[in-house]
Amino acid sequence: MSRQIRIFDTTLRDGEQSPGCSMNLSEKIEVARQLETLGVDIMEAGFAIASPGDAAAIATIAHTIKNSTVCSLARCVEKDIDAAWGAVKEAVDPRIHVFLATSPIHMQYKLKMSPEEVLESVRYHVSYTKKFLNNIEFSAEDATRSDWDFLCRVVDTAIKAGANTINIPDTTGYLTPGEYYDLIKYLREHVDGVENVILSCHNHNDLGMGVANSLAGIQAGIGQVECTINGIGERAGNASLEEIVMALKTRKDYFDCDTRIDTKQIYRSSRMIQTITGVPVAPTKPIIGANAFAHESGIHQHGVLNNKSTYEIMTPESVGIPKNAIVLGKHSGRHAFEARLKDLGYTLTTEKLDKAFEKFKVLADRKKVIKDRDLEALIGVVPVSG
Ligand code: KIV
Ligand code: ZN
Repeated sequence: MSRQIRIFDTTLRDGEQSPGCSMNLSEKIEVARQLETLGVDIMEAGFAIASPGDAAAIATIAHTIKNSTVCSLARCVEKDIDAAWGAVKEAVDPRIHVFLATSPIHMQYKLKMSPEEVLESVRYHVSYTKKFLNNIEFSAEDATRSDWDFLCRVVDTAIKAGANTINIPDTTGYLTPGEYYDLIKYLREHVDGVENVILSCHNHNDLGMGVANSLAGIQAGIGQVECTINGIGERAGNASLEEIVMALKTRKDYFDCDTRIDTKQIYRSSRMIQTITGVPVAPTKPIIGANAFAHESGIHQHGVLNNKSTYEIMTPESVGIPKNAIVLGKHSGRHAFEARLKDLGYTLTTEKLDKAFEKFKVLADRKKVIKDRDLEALIGVVPVSG
């Protein structure tokens, strides 16, 4: 029986903290509706205490969204938790996500609190949150640079105080997948009652390992993954939703896990975030980059034209992209050239095709990408353009 992994999307909170990615109220509502259509289990709609605008956006999202849990972030501070509750209380399924740092460096230099004071604050503030609702997530910020035995005590305290989701963030994107796996296993083996809560991962991408660490967490028994569309987020971003979901789907044989995500909505969600934030993704970005399903070299094009699986491990249609793009350029071969002409409605004799292909190679040395109009010019159907 496959394991169900909950997808916790934080595009509207951690994603929005990415430089240049802030969104206005109507944009946030549009994104929230798309996240609901995409099928995320939980959406973190913002950080209510951050600004009155954030609180209002969370409240409107809470009122609008019916099929996903709506969550607000809060520090271990009473007024944060009050603001979070004020913002999410109208939701069909509200959640409050409280966090406190647990690493020596954060406790000493940021919080200026002793480990015992941190434990007491976790106990007090999770219990305080419990006055409002039962759906409580606790995050040990900078968990991956914390002392493992202290982290066990923090997790134990949060569970006893009433948290039912425990998040183990790699806040600075520091760990490797093997280490993250070991940490989750350690917590599962050393904290009583951990089997009664959902363990969650939240992995940043500073060393480019956010997705790999999340998948390692899943293998170690995590039941919730925190991620963002296009991987936007603080610094180098968060683990990207589309990469995690498609890894689980494409390698179901390996992970044996499912999500509730309608993968056909991935491309649309990604385009929406690019358009709203004005932050484009790299052409080579897995799953949704412009080149993710494009084939330029002759050998690859020949293979894909005969059978797509030669060079595609998933279909563009499965993520909502209409079809794979055969890009004609100097690496393209005769098969792709002939196939594109056929798509355009032109079937040439062998002699004409040979000549046109020769001209195509000369042109391709000059132009990076050959467009359909260039092909028509080559075979003399339209005049040559600049
Ligand atoms: O990266 C982080 O640790 C966070 C927490 C607030 C969950 O974003
Ligand atoms: Zn984060």
